[in-house]
Amino acid sequence: MRIFSGIQPTGRKHLGNYLGAIVQYVEGQDRGEAIYCIVDLHATTVAYEPVRLRQRTLDTAAILLAAGLDPARCILFRQGDVHEHTELCWLLCSVTALGELNRMHQFRDKSAVQRELVSAGLLFYPVLQAADVLAYRAEEVPVGEDQREHLELMRDVATRFNARFPTPGSPRSATGGEGTLVVPEHRIPTVAARVRDLQEPERKMSTTGGSEQGTVYVLDEPDAIVKKFKRAVTDSGNELHRAPDKPGVSNLIEIMAAVRGMTPEQVEADLAGARGYGDLKVAAAEAVVEALAPVRERYLELRGDEAALEQALAAGAEKARVIARETLADVREAMGVGPPRAR
Ligand code: TRP
Repeated sequence: MRIFSGIQPTGRKHLGNYLGAIVQYVEGQDRGEAIYCIVDLHATTVAYEPVRLRQRTLDTAAILLAAGLDPARCILFRQGDVHEHTELCWLLCSVTALGELNRMHQFRDKSAVQRELVSAGLLFYPVLQAADVLAYRAEEVPVGEDQREHLELMRDVATRFNARFPTPGSPRSATGGEGTLVVPEHRIPTVAARVRDLQEPERKMSTTGGSEQGTVYVLDEPDAIVKKFKRAVTDSGNELHRAPDKPGVSNLIEIMAAVRGMTPEQVEADLAGARGYGDLKVAAAEAVVEALAPVRERYLELRGDEAALEQALAAGAEKARVIARETLADVREAMGVGPPRAR
């Protein structure tokens, strides 16, 4: 099973990102051949600072390594290092419908808030994302619900490519189709969908639009985490169990369950002796600090050595390229681009 996912370069990863994406990435290393890409090229589609982009990419690499990605058991690399992504993006444009790109919700939302320029890159963002995954013939893509449309598009693109450019004797896709490209499956982590803002438990924890006090960052100091939990909004009543009309309490219980690797029912059973919401907040804060503090410490260590991070990314890119190069040769051959492939 080959797994591929891409992650935006930012140092502001929050608890929702951690439980929903990063922890899943770490687990992916045991389930299959895991390939993870820090998408610096995608980050250039909206206004950005070049110096910051480099820093954020290293921040992200350090967070992922600190959380448990192991370069010996996965491929971790920077998108911009592997030129096959941009080439494949262009080649896939020939089987991508402009109308579909125009209709993407993320394109509509993001273009609506750009002040200076709505770049063509923003429109082509999903094609580059398709190239990311298809270059590795990945079978599974663990990303959030918000990426559903992009996943559907890449499945359409792969299917259309295989139909438009059939090649006898090309590798069979894991999903039973036949063709140069593998049609990937979406895998939506269930936890990510559930982590809510501590101040506004009706909404998802998010980097954009959430409350600062209600958003717990992976790199927050333990004290800051405790404060945020102590100020968490709870609900009326005092029973320590989940209920539809208790979004605040449900959130705390589910967060505890996720960081401890338990079921929410087990957490509720453990809380039987607790006295009200104050105890719940303290218990949740402790559980989260216990999970994040070691990540933060390792992060600080790793982030201090930029040369080592660059080296790790370069080694990852080397491994990624070996796979992507092979796909590109097949794609060019199928499309009649460049000279015929030497056999
Ligand atoms: N668009 C994704 C996000 O914002 C990031 C991404 C880029 C990605 N390329 C990818 C995710 C390929 C999965 C596969 O989260």
